[in-house]
Amino acid sequence: MFALLKPFPPSKQLAWILILCCCLASQDAGSNSNNYTEDACSVTPHRDLCIHSLASFSNEARQNPSKWARAGVSVTIGEAKKVAGSFADMNRTGRGVVARGRNRIAISDCVDCFQDALDNLHESLDVLRNLSVVQFGSQMEDVTTWVSAALTDGDTCLDGFDQARGRQLTSLLNCVSKVSYLTSNALALVNKLATTGPGGLTE
Ligand SMILES: *[C@@H]1O[C@H](CO)[C@@H](O)[C@H](O)[C@H]1NC(C)=O
Ligand SMILES: *[C@@H]1O[C@H](CO)[C@@H](O)[C@H](O)[C@H]1NC(C)=O
Ligand SMILES: *[C@@H]1O[C@H](CO)[C@@H](O)[C@H](O)[C@H]1NC(C)=O
Repeated sequence: MFALLKPFPPSKQLAWILILCCCLASQDAGSNSNNYTEDACSVTPHRDLCIHSLASFSNEARQNPSKWARAGVSVTIGEAKKVAGSFADMNRTGRGVVARGRNRIAISDCVDCFQDALDNLHESLDVLRNLSVVQFGSQMEDVTTWVSAALTDGDTCLDGFDQARGRQLTSLLNCVSKVSYLTSNALALVNKLATTGPGGLTE
């Protein structure tokens, strides 16, 4: 405690300077980190959304395609959960004049679609977390199938509605579209991993 109050001896000052330099160096790596995200997102159909949604994974994932695929799927799960919750609420409360007739049925269908999408995405993430060199080919086939199925679920949900939508439903359907964009980005990152092969898995 008392030692901290004394001026640092020269050797400690040097240590501080080194620590500061390390911080600066890692900040440099931070600004370069956008580069990793941009690089990874270059294969995706909705690039800006990809960069925006995955930037925080940059330092962790760097140039590792399996980490980017995992990041893509887990971000999609997060957004899909929110949308699933909103549909479940809307279906339960039957809220709003917008939720009548055909749209009433469509909302109930969307609850099922999003449950199915989340199952598919969770299964995908489980496999992506447990990739093996030996089973890589069949694992990637499964993941591609499941993420594609999740994409179809989103389309199926959107297809059920007629034009008479209120504001609340319209904004929720915009969220469904966003989840679809995130899902197709995730699929592109999965495809990228599949074509890269299992080479980088030990990282
Ligand atoms: C991004 O980083 C990679 C290496 O990680 C480098 O080869 C490439 O030139 C960089 N691109 C830009 C635009 O800075
Ligand atoms: C939506 O609500 C209706 C009416 O309460 C209910 O019958 C139906 O089972 C619900 N749909 C789902 C998928 O939970
Ligand atoms: C992970 O993969 C190994 C071999 O590929 C398998 O034996 C194991 O059950 C898997 N673990 C999980 C949690 O899926």
